[in-house]
Amino acid sequence: MIFNFVEGGVLDEIGNNRSIDAMRSVQFRQRAFPNVSNMNLSSSILGKETRVPFFVSPMGMLGMVHPHADPGVAKAIAEAGGVFIHSAWSGVGLPEVVQAAPGQVWAQAQFWKDRSYTEQHLDQAESLGVNVLVLPGDCTVGEERERELYHGLNRLPPILTLPDLISCAMRPRWVAGYLLGGRRVTYGNYAPGGRPLKMSEMKPFMKNQKDRSVSWKDVRAIRERWKGKVVIKGVMCAEDARIALDLGADAVYVSTLGGRQFDRQPGTIEVLDEVVEAVGGRAEVYCDGGVYRGADVLNILSRGATAAGIGRAAAYALAAGGRPAVSQFLGTLTDELQTAMAFCGVQSISEIDASIRRSFSDAVS
Ligand SMILES: Cc1cc2nc3c(=O)[nH]c(=O)nc-3n(C[C@H](O)[C@H](O)[C@H](O)COP(=O)(O)O)c2cc1C
Repeated sequence: MIFNFVEGGVLDEIGNNRSIDAMRSVQFRQRAFPNVSNMNLSSSILGKETRVPFFVSPMGMLGMVHPHADPGVAKAIAEAGGVFIHSAWSGVGLPEVVQAAPGQVWAQAQFWKDRSYTEQHLDQAESLGVNVLVLPGDCTVGEERERELYHGLNRLPPILTLPDLISCAMRPRWVAGYLLGGRRVTYGNYAPGGRPLKMSEMKPFMKNQKDRSVSWKDVRAIRERWKGKVVIKGVMCAEDARIALDLGADAVYVSTLGGRQFDRQPGTIEVLDEVVEAVGGRAEVYCDGGVYRGADVLNILSRGATAAGIGRAAAYALAAGGRPAVSQFLGTLTDELQTAMAFCGVQSISEIDASIRRSFSDAVS
């Protein structure tokens, strides 16, 4: 059930599979006798020095996956030298996450119908010293995630099916850890009436607060109000990248939300070149979708993006072993990135460009 919550995309899952397939179709030009004496992955993301050119993408409800949840992942990526983006749909409030990884957390905000929830979230982020806000351009509507229907996760608390109960019984260690972990399922950022939402109140809250009228005007309003940096997530074409820049975005973030909103999409890596070209160096560009290996990060950077986002891969590590497993995974990803860079004949992030890739026509001939 938990695996399917993380793994699932919408409808036929064409979009998610496409991002993964497109990401893996890259071929790099191998160089002989790579010089690896001076490998350096340090970089800068929105003015912040980082030791790795990647971050963990925002993911809601990580507390369902493992009680270490967002603070565990935030600590792991901060120790690895990257940044954590806290989801607007997180089960853990922003203060606990910022405390786990001071200075390394960005906040995602959502445009709720009652904008006072959005406003309070922004005020809180500001008072905690968070200086980067991530706005999702792709969460106004969404298609169905059918794996969640199968497991009864469309209702909260979920109504477990017999196969799910058997599956839980076969994983006593995970279940015990989960039950003893003391992490309640709720939306950590919102406390209408002064108390956290109960699990049974979460779906109605989302439904009532969904604002179908959200537009770029709302982005403009937030841009005028928020003193820090603004990142627009879910940009999948040149036109939207230009609009985001005209409204004063500091970065555009190519993402299909992991194929969890709209199924008939290109893979993110397939539109990255178009977006990078439209941005033309006036802002930073990020990309996620199908990043599981160091070579995937390299693929993204070779197209002119500043950083790559990691979604499911970090969630699987969290599910398997909490914070230590996320640290182990991030260490492996970093090693893989170094090795792939070495084979491409580059030792630092600034040396990475399109020349490290073979073009598809080379590949065919
Ligand atoms: C369990 C889960 C929850 C997610 N929740 C959010 C969210 O709250 N906000 C958001 O912008 N994206 C959300 N995403 C999408 C990720 O931010 C990211 O775009 C996506 O996972 C990247 O693709 P990948 O999973 O192939 O790495 C979620 C993804 C997963 C797997």
